[in-house]
Amino acid sequence: MPGDTITVKDNRSGKTAELPLLDGTAGAATVDIGPLAAQLGYLSLDPGFVSTASCKSAITYIDGDAGILLHRGYPIEQLAEHSTFPEVAYLLMHGELPTSHQLYSFNADIQRHWMIHEALRSFFSGFHYDAHPMAMMVGVVGSLSAFYHSELNIALEDHRRKSAVQLLAKMPTIAAACYRHSVGMPFVYPRTDLNYCENFLNMMFSIPGQPYYVDPVFVRALNLLFILHADHEQNASTSTVRVASSTGANPYACIAAGIAALWGPAHGGANEAVLAMLAEIGDIKRIPEYLDRAKDKNDPFRLMGFGHRVYKNFDPRATLIRKACHQVLEKLAHPDPLFELALALEEIALKDDYFIERKLYPNVDFYSGIIYRALSIPTNMFTVMFAIARTAGWVSHWLEMKADPAQKIARPRQLYVGSPPRDYVPLKQR
Ligand code: CMC
Repeated sequence: MPGDTITVKDNRSGKTAELPLLDGTAGAATVDIGPLAAQLGYLSLDPGFVSTASCKSAITYIDGDAGILLHRGYPIEQLAEHSTFPEVAYLLMHGELPTSHQLYSFNADIQRHWMIHEALRSFFSGFHYDAHPMAMMVGVVGSLSAFYHSELNIALEDHRRKSAVQLLAKMPTIAAACYRHSVGMPFVYPRTDLNYCENFLNMMFSIPGQPYYVDPVFVRALNLLFILHADHEQNASTSTVRVASSTGANPYACIAAGIAALWGPAHGGANEAVLAMLAEIGDIKRIPEYLDRAKDKNDPFRLMGFGHRVYKNFDPRATLIRKACHQVLEKLAHPDPLFELALALEEIALKDDYFIERKLYPNVDFYSGIIYRALSIPTNMFTVMFAIARTAGWVSHWLEMKADPAQKIARPRQLYVGSPPRDYVPLKQR
């Protein structure tokens, strides 16, 4: 209720502070800890932001206990069944589902921007063929800022919206160029007669001079994966984008910062790590050995694709992806042994007390790589695929925070545990 507070008593001084309780439209009430510093002179400590809301946001809602994920109020299951990735991107960015005219113009806008500057193409030649595609993505997306810096005024909403669309449009083109560079194939220009996912598959796999058939089953699967990865409220990479852009930095550089954060195996890099782990396990008989390793606190090995900071029951995205895996793999002439292995691993882990007690379930990354594999996307491109999709979320959060009059530079404090003040010791006396 408005006006509700929590009273905090300081047992050292006997003083109290009244902390306002804030209610969102759903989810746990949030304590405004501002008065802690103002009235008592204290800071709060929360490593990893386990119980800290870093901002107010109207984009995405997660109920981790119930396995609910809503974008602008719409359940992920309904978006996955009925929508397309560009439509979900529009929803995230604008707050409402588009009319058919709005969706048409949005797609046309994306198509207008999905070519990259010819000079940007030459950046790729500086990378060795075996550079990790995520390393190329960080560098090339960051260097977009060199092309669009002087004409961009982020104080103007229409400039911000144009940058957001440019990012959404250019990510698949840059991603496909990373792949083509790594295999020594010529870059393929985007085609405006194809939709977002068809165009990406064409830029990835078509061979100059030969017709390329874009399989509709693969297009549907890619749309689904992009929708499921589009946004996930204040995750590590989105928070990185928000922190970087709170300084007023160039948006292309801020998205490059988000890509860097996504790359880590605890975040988006997990989809690549899952495939490496499944390949290493290799056989259903070896699953118990790897489960023992995951449970051993002296072993750094973790079951990749398992566990989530927020979901403590199931990840609704994993449920949808598991189902899609069955549909896509049915199209293949031979079953994928890694999918069989993944299903067995999930079944065995979910019966294990260690995983039950800690509420560790497969997350979005556990099965996504299996579908990417079926689409012939190489393993080191999996996190790049995540980055293409998450750009929709990153730019939406950027647009939201830039329009928020309460937005401030992100500047956390710390609990200092270093040396007390001491005098400089001249070099010869040390
Ligand atoms: N394998 C084995 N043990 C695990 C795992 C795992 N995958 N995940 C968590 N645990 C254990 C952890 O050791 C701890 O045990 P204890 O209480 O005995 O110390 C307990 O479960 C709680 O884990 P935590 O590390 O405190 O949880 P967190 O919220 O800080 O970390 C996580 C969440 C996703 C980083 C972690 O579960 C993890 O590293 N998972 C594997 C990597 C992965 O799949 N990441 C993708 C996340 S979903 C997509 C995305 O966000 O990008």
